[in-house]
Amino acid sequence: MNIETAAAAMSLTDLRPQPADILADVLDGLARTPKQLPSKYFYDAHGSSLFEAITQLPEYYLTRTELALLEQRMPDIAAAVGANAHVVEYGSGSGRKTELLLQGLQQPVAYTPVEISRSVLLASTQRMAGELPAVEMLPVCADFTQAIALPPPSRSARRTLMFFPGSTLGNFTRPHAVAILRAMHQTMGNDGRALIGIDLDKDPALIDAAYNDSAGVTARFTLNLLARLNREIGSNFNLDQFQHRASYVRERGRIETFLVSLIDQDVRVGGQLFHFDRDEAMQVEYSHKYTDPGFSALAAEAGLEVAQHWNDARDWFGLRLLRPIAPGQRLEAAG
Ligand code: AVI
Repeated sequence: MNIETAAAAMSLTDLRPQPADILADVLDGLARTPKQLPSKYFYDAHGSSLFEAITQLPEYYLTRTELALLEQRMPDIAAAVGANAHVVEYGSGSGRKTELLLQGLQQPVAYTPVEISRSVLLASTQRMAGELPAVEMLPVCADFTQAIALPPPSRSARRTLMFFPGSTLGNFTRPHAVAILRAMHQTMGNDGRALIGIDLDKDPALIDAAYNDSAGVTARFTLNLLARLNREIGSNFNLDQFQHRASYVRERGRIETFLVSLIDQDVRVGGQLFHFDRDEAMQVEYSHKYTDPGFSALAAEAGLEVAQHWNDARDWFGLRLLRPIAPGQRLEAAG
């Protein structure tokens, strides 16, 4: 079955961003000081495959640590979530974690991956449908930073489980992360749960190395953003004249990634010229690393609390099961 036939058969809800949306976001970011580009546009088909390559790098400990943790803790997670869940995943990625989750839960009824890259979404949903025939596939192609109306499963679900692995929450600034958690809270309802993967604060050298791999894959991944913009919105960034730079800023608990202009240059975007000074750094991605108090405070702002938490043996990466704070407790917390 080709991808378009699969899309029709799986009733794909397609809300992917159009070139006009991308252009508006880029123009807005380039008008700021320092200039910024949104990291959500890293994930075109090539960017998604470069990210997949990053997850295999020796320095990028996040994915393999989370996978092992999920595998090890799956029985506890299944017991805490209960039977017949509708699993909603933000970002469908390559689906390895999803398979572990859907195979480990008790009779999940449906799976809704929400993913900005249509090609990745369709390929991974098609593969998942083959491997998990008992689970109804209800993919949604959309930017998961917005609230989403869930397609209803044909068999009714006992609860909604939001799954947000990979520390992708860490790619958002605090106000955006709170907004995402609030949207999740709204989508999953008062009986819902959210299983979130978070990268933890640790030795800065380990974190720095994960975003500055010796093979240069992360640098190619970052620069691919410019190639995508050139192709999709007709900008003329010269990829040879920008360089990847990432470092861990512990006071702010995050990797800050920039594309640095190697020369004085002008770039044309949407009919406007933007000047870059030599050594000017354009901010393109944050990757937050969390402490337990910091993450609990973030969740609380969205009306959620940590029901269970699991870390790997080295405390490098964590999974947190969130549930809505009971209304009475919310009032106590506020008063
Ligand atoms: C998807 N996200 C959690 C990755 C991260 O670690 O921030 C994206 C990434 N950027 C550079 N390397 C990986």
